[in-house]
Amino acid sequence: MTAKEVILGRRSIRKFKDEPVDRSVLEELVAEASYSPSWKHSQIPRYIAVCDKALKEQLAAEATTIWPGNGDIIRQCAALVAVCVVTKRSGYERDGSFSTAFEDRWEFFDAGVASQTFCLAAYEHGLGTVILGLFDIERMSELLKVPEGQKLIALIPVGYPAEEPVAPKRKEVKDLLTVI
Ligand SMILES: Cc1cc2nc3c(=O)[nH]c(=O)nc-3n(C[C@H](O)[C@H](O)[C@H](O)COP(=O)(O)O)c2cc1C
Repeated sequence: MTAKEVILGRRSIRKFKDEPVDRSVLEELVAEASYSPSWKHSQIPRYIAVCDKALKEQLAAEATTIWPGNGDIIRQCAALVAVCVVTKRSGYERDGSFSTAFEDRWEFFDAGVASQTFCLAAYEHGLGTVILGLFDIERMSELLKVPEGQKLIALIPVGYPAEEPVAPKRKEVKDLLTVI
């Protein structure tokens, strides 16, 4: 697959086959995502992969009340990957001050870059993914036991796809690009 095929072919997948994903495959996806760029090469993204069915059910039941549809996706996926970041590094100077006016928001930028790389890598492996931002952050962090000094940013359910969605329409380049 070419990079273009991967970029254009990846879709958000919300229905998965009842088929496990090997730990070695998850390790490969994280290894590939680790090649993402990051603030001053701070490499802050961390991943928690939940394969345990009972825990996935608990996460869906107790931490997706703001958008229960995401709970259904979590129940079906083979592995729920929580994208976390190590805090107080990205966007910071060595003395602890912020490098730019965006302050610590570069943490989210780094998590986003890594998440997309993860999803593209998964697609090349024949896996479906969807980035989830709608969940109860506090309860989810608690149940996932996100370590001290880290922050949960997004969830990525991973599994073998059971649907082939059509790409939602994109805006036209003329509306996206300004060349000056
Ligand atoms: C930051 C972010 C948060 C998202 N949150 C959700 C979500 O909570 N639930 C969901 O079903 N999809 C979520 N999505 C997926 C988008 O809806 C999806 O990317 C968009 O509809 C375009 O479809 P495509 O990914 O197939 O191109 C999210 C995507 C991003 C980047």
